[in-house]
Amino acid sequence: MQVTVLGATGRTGIHVVRLLAARGHQVRAGLRSRRRADVLRDEPARPVVADVTADRDDLVEALKDSDVVINTIGAPDPEPESVNLVDRDGAIAAIRAAEVAGVSRFIQLSAQFADSPDQGDRLVRSILLAKQVSDSVLQKSALTWTIVRPGTLTDGPATGRVKVAGHLEPGRITRRDVAAVLVGVLGEPLTENRGFDVVSGDFPVAPALATLE
Ligand SMILES: NC(=O)c1ccc[n+]([C@@H]2O[C@H](COP(=O)([O-])OP(=O)(O)OC[C@H]3O[C@@H](n4cnc5c(N)ncnc54)[C@H](OP(=O)(O)O)[C@@H]3O)[C@@H](O)[C@H]2O)c1
Repeated sequence: MQVTVLGATGRTGIHVVRLLAARGHQVRAGLRSRRRADVLRDEPARPVVADVTADRDDLVEALKDSDVVINTIGAPDPEPESVNLVDRDGAIAAIRAAEVAGVSRFIQLSAQFADSPDQGDRLVRSILLAKQVSDSVLQKSALTWTIVRPGTLTDGPATGRVKVAGHLEPGRITRRDVAAVLVGVLGEPLTENRGFDVVSGDFPVAPALATLE
């Protein structure tokens, strides 16, 4: 499958790129700017510029011929202005561009409590509100969608063990494990057109995803 990873230079995105390539997918690594290409110099992916705040036609062009888009983008700073530009409007631009480009599947890296921001941590409320809007646009889009809502991200090693469900108590999970879930979604039809929380847990990714109802 041809998969484009948006935010491929990010701390989660780069693990998504590596896992996809290891599973034999053709990977396009979406870059905010050509200047960031050196980060991916040794990665098994073809770089493509895909700035979600830039020209819409360029974004459509970047996503053309992709079967799947995995969006791992996050705003560079937590100010509402930046978050609304990237996590809300940028994500919506990516969804719309994927529709126009004929992409069939869109996997969105969201956040726990993005579907109920008032229950989430006040410190990240603007991020949750932005993601709530873009996630709901994705759900109403023409794309086959999956929304993955992880708890707090950490930089530890992959554990390969997760817990998934429609809603979970607040938790933590490593970025590597989140990447494994984002890639694992491709092999599990139960994840189509649904969103779920994920935190670290006791089950390997594939059996965990197969428990989604
Ligand atoms: N931190 C947490 O605890 C937590 C919890 C749940 C969910 N999340 C979400 O998980 C996602 C990934 O987080 P992370 O920490 O792995 O992200 P990260 O390391 O900050 O990476 C963000 C990526 O987004 C890219 N990006 C930023 N603006 C862009 C734009 N306009 N166009 C294209 N790409 C753009 C960055 O590109 P550059 O490298 O060029 O800057 C980078 O590749 C985010 O959406 C975050 O909100 C985070």
